[in-house]
Amino acid sequence: MRALLILLVVGLVGVSRGQEDVDERDVIDLTPSNFDQTIAKYPNILVEFYAPWCGHCKQLKPHYAKAATKLKKEHPEVALAKVDADAHKELGTKFGVRGFPTLKWFVNGEPTDYEGGRTDDAIVTWIKKRMGPAAVQLNETSHLDDFKNKAEVVVVGFLNSKEGDAWKEFEKVAKKMDDVEFGVSHEKSVHEHAKQKGGDVVLYKKFSGDAEHEAVVYSGAMNAADIESWIGIHQLPFVVEFSAATSGKIFGSPIKSQVLLFCDVGSSSCEEAIKTFKENAKANYGKIIAVLVRNENDNVLNYFGVDKEETPCVFIAKSPSPGEKGMSKYKGPTKDTLTKDGELAKFLSSYLNGELKPHRKSEKLPANVVDEHGVTTLVGANFDEIVMDPSKDVLVEFYAPWCGHCKQLAPIYDKLGKEFQDIDSVVIAKMDATANDPPSNIDVQGFPTIKFFKATDKTSMDYNGDRTVKGFRKFIKQNAGTNFELKKKGKKKAAEKEL
Ligand SMILES: *[C@@H]1O[C@H](CO)[C@@H](O)[C@H](O)[C@H]1NC(C)=O
Repeated sequence: MRALLILLVVGLVGVSRGQEDVDERDVIDLTPSNFDQTIAKYPNILVEFYAPWCGHCKQLKPHYAKAATKLKKEHPEVALAKVDADAHKELGTKFGVRGFPTLKWFVNGEPTDYEGGRTDDAIVTWIKKRMGPAAVQLNETSHLDDFKNKAEVVVVGFLNSKEGDAWKEFEKVAKKMDDVEFGVSHEKSVHEHAKQKGGDVVLYKKFSGDAEHEAVVYSGAMNAADIESWIGIHQLPFVVEFSAATSGKIFGSPIKSQVLLFCDVGSSSCEEAIKTFKENAKANYGKIIAVLVRNENDNVLNYFGVDKEETPCVFIAKSPSPGEKGMSKYKGPTKDTLTKDGELAKFLSSYLNGELKPHRKSEKLPANVVDEHGVTTLVGANFDEIVMDPSKDVLVEFYAPWCGHCKQLAPIYDKLGKEFQDIDSVVIAKMDATANDPPSNIDVQGFPTIKFFKATDKTSMDYNGDRTVKGFRKFIKQNAGTNFELKKKGKKKAAEKEL
């Protein structure tokens, strides 16, 4: 999920203001010593995890301070706080902070991502919405009818009482889910008008093209987590079009599998494909999310290694299960087979039955897998064979063609390759991880990521040492599962010129 979301993250900050004095008197400074107490003290608190050197944090600073001051007047029960997560890395790690700034909204100590805007007004509006009533009170039948038309998806609690556990759980969900409108009615007349029993929770949806509202009645236990998960599943139409606005719902859904149709919308082959896709989406609703990806989404196409010429085609994306790091991809029917009778249905049922092997994006093997520097090129197709060979110690650099640090490393890496060229049991290898997928249990977060796969048991280790020939050499010697002797010849000279 992350990877795909990161592709979409757009710079949200406008023109930088000068760093004139920012009056931060209403922003609470958090450190490990006061963090827990402060979070416990305020049932509603927004926390910014920042780093002093981060440009977007500097831009947010005056807005954040202003928002804190404005809110203090209207909602003194709400607090805005910040924590230097560079100085206090443990706090950032605890809350899964990956980039700066990250804002988290804590309700009764429970964090959720802040997804509002980054101006003072946007922050204030977002918080005010959370401090108001969580659900609109529907007192009359007309209120319900109007409310159903307020958005494509609304959720109504036909609750017997304005107190008690059912209401508390319902309110919790209503407060938490930002993108769904919630209503509540305690009136018998409204319940009867809706043909619902007291105690029912109903999701009404009507997407463009639908003739009328569809009502889905919740049948699980009355607890917030289950209701939220149920809404997460049912709030989506049979086919969702992928966009910045829908990606949160798609990848935040409790359903962790998505079937994607890549398509040149408007072309006749695409219209045909969409028809087949919809039928299958309907038949598998609730098990897998069906997503239409227009060919204009180059980032997403590249991520799956889809060539526009090959569309319409289908892939499944599966978010990582425990023990896996990356998203798994499954390659489905392509333009020649997609609309053939039963092809897509067969693919989906094989996937859902766990019968499919993930597909790994791969470039073609180069003519010389080992280049003139003795560095081995890995692609999706030869990765396992080379890296998982138990008789070899393998150092792998995962790089991106555009990455500056990777370019800096290249001559050093070539030198290292030369040095180990004659050692059969040690392989110095590299993989363009933007064009090839490593196995899903390998975590490649940034570039370059350098890992060592030890001979015999193939445990993998991260290399975080100096990016010098000397550093690599020492690490390999220390950790190798094989014995080898590097040539001594010309050692002194090489050492003098060492990069
Ligand atoms: C229903 O009544 C409550 C309490 O009088 C009021 O606050 C609320 O705005 C009413 N709902 C609507 C939709 O008018």
